[in-house]
Amino acid sequence: MTTAITLCGSIRKGSVNEILRQHVSGKLREAGVEVTDLSLADFEMPIFNEDLEPDHVPESAVRLAEAFRTHDIVFLATPEYNGSLPPLVINTLTWISRQKPSPFRHAVFGIAGVSSGKYATIWAQSHLRDLLTKAGALVVPTLLGVGPAGDAFDDDGAPLEPQIKHKVTQIVKELTMFSRGGA
Ligand SMILES: Cc1cc2nc3c(=O)[nH]c(=O)nc-3n(C[C@H](O)[C@H](O)[C@H](O)COP(=O)(O)O)c2cc1C
Repeated sequence: MTTAITLCGSIRKGSVNEILRQHVSGKLREAGVEVTDLSLADFEMPIFNEDLEPDHVPESAVRLAEAFRTHDIVFLATPEYNGSLPPLVINTLTWISRQKPSPFRHAVFGIAGVSSGKYATIWAQSHLRDLLTKAGALVVPTLLGVGPAGDAFDDDGAPLEPQIKHKVTQIVKELTMFSRGGA
């Protein structure tokens, strides 16, 4: 069975990205994927500093890297901060990128984001796609950016806009059909 982990780049209460993460998780399950929902709150890591290597690598980084390596799909919904990525996401991915063997070469990655504004995290997603690709990940092409968040979801957390619903369908299809060929 195809397996997935889903993550949210915001750990704040009431996160709009968490709404999208939960929605996509549900859609992956409907597509027959065995999904494990993870919270970055359970993977605390100090700010990355090379001096912490190799003796003080957080156990969270080792554990999360292993989750990346052992699942077929990694889905991450993240906010945009100042046209870039939140420190939580950068710090987590920085630690993960130092783990061996590479945690980026097995899974197929899907990225998405929700913003309070109308630009719908396009810059954050561009940075994230670039970072992941440079680290060796295969990121599926769908650009799933949602914004403004205020009008985006119904009370059950489902997107209201037909175009966003279509993109969710599309990203789930890509995530379940693309493969690294068992690498
Ligand atoms: C430090 C900071 C910087 C932000 N910069 C941006 C930005 O560049 N683009 C944007 O669309 N929203 C920006 N926002 C607003 C976020 O889109 C908004 O806070 C969103 O709800 C965060 O996602 P979350 O609800 O999942 O935590 C920023 C918010 C913070 C706290």
